[in-house]
Amino acid sequence: MQKSNWLRAGLLATLAGGALLAATPASAQGSLVMYCGVQEEWCRAMSGAFEKETGIKVAMTRKSAGEVYAQVKAEASNPRGDIWWGGTGDPHLQAAEEGLTLEYESPVNKDLHPWALSQWNAAKKRTVGIYAGALGFGFNTQQIKAKGLAEPKCWADLLNAKLKDDVQVADPNSSGTAYTLLATVVQLMGEEKGFDYLKALHKNISQYTKSGAAPAKAASLGETAVGIVFIHDAVVFAVQGDPIKPVAPCEGTGYEIGSMSIVKGARNLDNAKKFYDWALTPAAQALGAPAKSYQVPSNKNAPVPTQAPKMEEMKLINYDFVKYGSSAERVRLLTKWDKEIKALPK
Ligand code: G6P
Repeated sequence: MQKSNWLRAGLLATLAGGALLAATPASAQGSLVMYCGVQEEWCRAMSGAFEKETGIKVAMTRKSAGEVYAQVKAEASNPRGDIWWGGTGDPHLQAAEEGLTLEYESPVNKDLHPWALSQWNAAKKRTVGIYAGALGFGFNTQQIKAKGLAEPKCWADLLNAKLKDDVQVADPNSSGTAYTLLATVVQLMGEEKGFDYLKALHKNISQYTKSGAAPAKAASLGETAVGIVFIHDAVVFAVQGDPIKPVAPCEGTGYEIGSMSIVKGARNLDNAKKFYDWALTPAAQALGAPAKSYQVPSNKNAPVPTQAPKMEEMKLINYDFVKYGSSAERVRLLTKWDKEIKALPK
């Protein structure tokens, strides 16, 4: 495992800059169907701001990454969606490889961090990075104390028998967050040991949720002692004063490059491109933090939220997005997870 400093350059970026593309307000600019993969509040902020600036009516639905992928695939012969904005990059890469999304080169690409463009290159222009965030967990401080446990700091700590039925994570079939966990433990520990880890963890899992961030909320409410989530999803509750502590696991961890793709066959293609260009601007990317989304934005000139977990201080693995975002590998790992982990008795 190598410590990656891929973000360092980006984090030093200046905060200068403003909207690069002047939006033209208008009354009858048509519509846009948006499949949104982040938290509802940020989805609404984005669709609302775009509507206001352009006059384009946005029909937005929030879904987990694996679910959007499945929907786009199911609708391939008769596409309903125009733009798929947000969610972990792996399913976007899978969709790109399967020809479900469209090649596009935005004029804003020149202002993006290299990690966002490497996603675009890997997808042969069919998806682009819009934010980054590291995987970890959040624990409920009161519950951990009540159980007489030391504060968990490592992935290994989540196997403690005292956490039986007190850890939550999503199902990797629906959730990009949970797929990131699956791919992370395989890369961090090796496939055999990684699956051994997931088997042992299974004993402590109370439920595999549908959405990736749900376990953070559950931990903040004390409904579970630990929620495995993107660290920024736990930070949301910590900054509002809930008894939850976000953790970047000591062994090292994986991360996501949240992505955006245009659906192939989009009925509102021009509007999808307009949204795409706008969504990459610093002004649009600055809408995340006020909507309590603390990822690192992909535009070098966009402000990094002060609450964003410091990825440059974490031990990050060199996540292989090309491999783990490939159709064959995603299908293989998810099938194996269903068979060897989810089906296990407890
Ligand atoms: C949350 C996070 C995003 C992440 C998304 C994945 O919304 O804030 O950074 O991309 O979860 O959602 P999913 O439900 O697919 O795990």
